[in-house]
Amino acid sequence: MNRRRLLFLSALSGLAAAGTSCSSGWQAPRRPEFTNRLRIPPPAESRRAAGGFREFALDLRAGGRTGFLPGLTTATWGINGSYLGPTVRVARGERVRMAVTNRLDEATTLHWHGVRLPATMDGGPHQMIAPGATWRPEWTIEQPAATTWFHPHPHEKTAMHVYRGLAGLLLIDDPDGPRLPSRYGVDDVPLIVQDKRFDDDGALDEGDVDSGTFGALGDQILINGTHDPYFEVRTELVRFRLLNASNARVYRIGFTDGRPCQVVATDGGLLERPVAVDRVKLSPGERAEIVVRFTAGEQAMLDSRGENIKQANDIEEEDFQLLRLVAAAELTGSAPVPAALGGAPAVPPPAGARIRRFELSGSEINGQDMEMTRIDEVVPAGANEIWEIDNTTYAHNFHIHEVSFRILDINGAAPPAYQQGPKDTVFIPKKAKARLSVRFGTYTDPVTPYMYHCHILRHEDKGMMGQFVVVKPGTEHQVPRTLAHRHD
Ligand code: C2O
Ligand code: CU
Ligand code: CU
Repeated sequence: MNRRRLLFLSALSGLAAAGTSCSSGWQAPRRPEFTNRLRIPPPAESRRAAGGFREFALDLRAGGRTGFLPGLTTATWGINGSYLGPTVRVARGERVRMAVTNRLDEATTLHWHGVRLPATMDGGPHQMIAPGATWRPEWTIEQPAATTWFHPHPHEKTAMHVYRGLAGLLLIDDPDGPRLPSRYGVDDVPLIVQDKRFDDDGALDEGDVDSGTFGALGDQILINGTHDPYFEVRTELVRFRLLNASNARVYRIGFTDGRPCQVVATDGGLLERPVAVDRVKLSPGERAEIVVRFTAGEQAMLDSRGENIKQANDIEEEDFQLLRLVAAAELTGSAPVPAALGGAPAVPPPAGARIRRFELSGSEINGQDMEMTRIDEVVPAGANEIWEIDNTTYAHNFHIHEVSFRILDINGAAPPAYQQGPKDTVFIPKKAKARLSVRFGTYTDPVTPYMYHCHILRHEDKGMMGQFVVVKPGTEHQVPRTLAHRHD
């Protein structure tokens, strides 16, 4: 055993001892000691295919068993493995092709959340994959570096498919990007945050997934599918890519000791410059990249603090410890975070930008449930519009496929600086109104819609979703608003 490993282990046992004050027969209620090494999703393998494509194979599988809790295994679903998926990594400008094979015994889809691509490649509810079938979307990566992700999106069934374990990261790199920590799993560390409930035998408790106002709100946290995890820090700076892949829970993530986190990116990519904060709030589907400084030999705890938010939010917010950081006795030096990150500045929407209004009430949008055959909005390609989301009832969020947007204001006030970067999902507190400046892409398809919806998966499944098509400017009025019903 090498010296560093030995020091590390003695740090662990020191901590365990500190937490145990008496050694009589009485067992104190179990307190997590965070002794499970953080799993790092493996990088997805790819192969070069004809036509300059890079091809990834993603198999959606049921019937896995994963060890989360001591001495127990849990039936889970996964992508190329028993739980969650590998990390797909692609570069701006690359042509990618996915071979998504559905090995479940029910139909599903795989959606690329945060990715700009043609509607037929989007993996929403119109791109169902039958059991045993392989779906092969392909597109060119034409967007800035970002932390995006993938998950199933079958109409009315997304919550259960994600809860059982189908989700993964798709990281977009930009060769011309700024110098940030980028050694995957070393100083560039994904943190997929999920809450679960377990039965006594270790099975996932699915009781609330499809019931109640918000659906599943767990009392146990998994990070990358690791319960009570620790991560061994080996560099002065670590970049964490945070993804809230929970069904409903909202987190406010930071460090117990209040150390600053430099936010460098939001959902859609880099900020113009780093913003130091002590907490980042993430609702389901949102991402943030933070860079954090450590000193040799120390320990720290990443946690989530509920706000006393009953007035602002109906989702019960609780305190959780998320991840213990154990810094090695010697840390490798890191280059400082550049003062300018190269993220595009927010451009104010043009005067006279079209405004569309969406009223959220209960789990409906503009008084309606999602209807697969109804096109709700027709958007001209390349438009920069203002979308006003007016929430008349309890907490929601709002995600738009294909685009990135900027939050103009929430209840008339500018969002905190760290939320001023490119976004695709925004938290909408109870009775709040948000205005978004949305820039649409240029892939047109009058008969294949993209989705906008609440990303609280229970709400999405209940129909809190609408459909928009992007069409050639000037053809908006020729577009059919009703799609032929598809029998999948
Ligand atoms: Cu992450 Cu339409 O979803
Ligand atoms: Cu999406
Ligand atoms: Cu909602």
